Amino acid sequence: MYNSVAIKDDIFLIGFNDRRTRLFENLWPMPDGVSYNCYVVRDEKCALIDTAHAAMGDILLSSVETILGDRKLDYLVINHMEPDHSGAICEIVSRYPEVKILGNKRTFDILASYFGSVADLQEVADGETLSLGKHTLQFHMTPWVHWPETMMTYETGEKMLFSGDAFGMFGAPDGGVFDDQVDFNARLEGEMRRYYSNIVAKYGTMVQKALTKISPLTVNMICPVHGFVWRENPAKVVGLYDKWSRCEGDPGAVMIVYGTLYGFTAQIADYIARLLAAEGVKDIRVYDSSKTHLSFLLSEAWRCGTLVLGSCAYNTQMFPAMDEFTRKLSFIGLKNRRLAFFGEYSWNGGGVRNLNAWYEAGKECYELVCAPVEIHGRPDDQKLAGCTELAKAVAAGIPKSK
Ligand code: FEO
Repeated sequence: MYNSVAIKDDIFLIGFNDRRTRLFENLWPMPDGVSYNCYVVRDEKCALIDTAHAAMGDILLSSVETILGDRKLDYLVINHMEPDHSGAICEIVSRYPEVKILGNKRTFDILASYFGSVADLQEVADGETLSLGKHTLQFHMTPWVHWPETMMTYETGEKMLFSGDAFGMFGAPDGGVFDDQVDFNARLEGEMRRYYSNIVAKYGTMVQKALTKISPLTVNMICPVHGFVWRENPAKVVGLYDKWSRCEGDPGAVMIVYGTLYGFTAQIADYIARLLAAEGVKDIRVYDSSKTHLSFLLSEAWRCGTLVLGSCAYNTQMFPAMDEFTRKLSFIGLKNRRLAFFGEYSWNGGGVRNLNAWYEAGKECYELVCAPVEIHGRPDDQKLAGCTELAKAVAAGIPKSK
């Protein structure tokens, strides 16, 4: 089948590229699509690890049949029940009615709530092993990465980790399925960080626990359910997940993001960016919160060590898109960031006042580096003068680029 690749002797990736769906979870844009991966271990006993989105059910079935031939499927391991991976369970059970479904208690609670009583269930315990013949699977409970039932499956001979959503990414692979077949450039790393920040980041503490849990394992290959199989440099994605789940931003990177009605706050943003560049800061990105989707703003906030946030007043409040952005940062738990604020008002303010209120409510997570700049009406040279102090304070904590 076009979508099956032998990734080791008798171990296969079945991958589906979805470039049609516009929004992942009906929320998050996918300009470059997404892939859904599942895996087959063909041995004396045969196992399928995860399934796929329901829309891929018939192709998944054909792929499994092609790999197994006239063998039966003995086990279906469910690492994660979110429907992008569990959607084809009923097709698999219909075709292979004797299959045993392996999961944990929470897996089966969710399974029953979706599909009722579907098959023969076998609960597995943390650390338990299952011999398939030459290959042995070991189950590791890693709850809340990012659902309560999530677990990882480790193949002990080849030392392959089937990791579920962990180490996955947005973006459908354009050909290569292994990390060594692609240039894992800033765009691809960005799509991995966007998946992390949008989908997983709220559970960063649990990601840290999962990383600790798997750290004693020797891992030659990481096989996630979205994106690439990591065989050349699995340590790279473990390192990225460690960094992101500790909320460690790039110290040299500054994100300026603003909300504006008629452009005055945008002018302040551009002026601050110019001043920062003059101070020697090279990694500066400026965003209009109305234009750039929240999904990308969150990812950028996860990258940048310093956030410079601006808002005009909107009916005495923050600009709505900035209000949504800042509330979302609090909800998913960003921390360890340097902050500065700016804004504009025409009558009695509200943008900067509410940025400050947001900061005060979670100040243990941030370092506010200077007083805000708030301008009344149209910015001019005199009114913009306060930006110089703000830019100097922001730049003072940023390592000089070489
Ligand atoms: Fe890719 Fe949590 O599902």
